[in-house]
Amino acid sequence: MNCDRFVIFIQYACVMKEKGMVNKLCCFRKGEQAMSGIIVRTQALKKYYRLGENTVKALDGVDFEVREREFVAIIGKSGSGKSTLLHMIGGLDVPTEGEVYVDGRRLNKLDRNQLAVFRRRKIGFVFQNYNLVPDLNIYENVVLPIELDGGRIDRGFVDELFSLLKLTEKKEALPGMLSGGQQQRAAIARAIAYKPAIVLADEPTGNLDTAASHDVMGLLKTAAVQFGQTVLLITHDQDIAQLADRIVRIEDGRLLKRRDSYAVE
Ligand SMILES: Nc1ncnc2c1ncn2[C@@H]1O[C@H](COP(=O)(O)OP(=O)(O)OP(=O)(O)O)[C@@H](O)[C@H]1O
Ligand SMILES: [Mg+2]
Repeated sequence: MNCDRFVIFIQYACVMKEKGMVNKLCCFRKGEQAMSGIIVRTQALKKYYRLGENTVKALDGVDFEVREREFVAIIGKSGSGKSTLLHMIGGLDVPTEGEVYVDGRRLNKLDRNQLAVFRRRKIGFVFQNYNLVPDLNIYENVVLPIELDGGRIDRGFVDELFSLLKLTEKKEALPGMLSGGQQQRAAIARAIAYKPAIVLADEPTGNLDTAASHDVMGLLKTAAVQFGQTVLLITHDQDIAQLADRIVRIEDGRLLKRRDSYAVE
């Protein structure tokens, strides 16, 4: 890594540290068993925000279960609580009440450091605006979370991922040289490269046209199936929601249906 890259790497590490994303390594409590077949569970989950005299009930008692390797689409109107739910499951924010269990761990039992490690190793995030580091090339972006964690880069796996996501020719390119769809595919590669158990995607196709959206989503689904990952995806696009194994709808902080399939009307 040359000097410029090193400075960017350190800056990025500092930003992530500020956000609580990078902390010293720590171990999870032994003996916390994975719930059989269920990788995500929320129980009576509430997130209330106080705004002056008013209380915004972003989540108002959500009981939600996701099975291992399931691909679940979360739909609902703007402001219904979709992102809040994803943030709670990803350990990016803490509930007002209720519990979140992910891969056998109760998130509110983890301290800040444990939560940061948990996020890095167990969760791959994909956001609408890609969040790639502009001065790192695509390969460096994809392996950055592994490097920040001091992990071993599985080059064979990363190559396979690049090939699957049709990015092999773009490894050396900077994000600014790529189209939106290619950047989002790179962001998906970065989310998957560390082999997280769960991929959380918050409107990943929100900035893409229809063709690019479907391309990206098809590849996300293929990757998730191939690598055995569980995917929770927020989308406003009904065609994309139909790619999921199951669709759940949120309205005013409540899940309308649980467990069974929800047809998009
Ligand atoms: N930090 C916050 N402080 C106060 N209110 C908040 C905060 N974050 C979210 N909210 C409120 O919680 C509710 C749910 O927000 P959330 O972002 O989960 O909605 P969403 O379903 O993701 O909407 P969109 O489709 O527009 O992204 C909204 O009324 C929002 O204004
Ligand atoms: Mg949102």
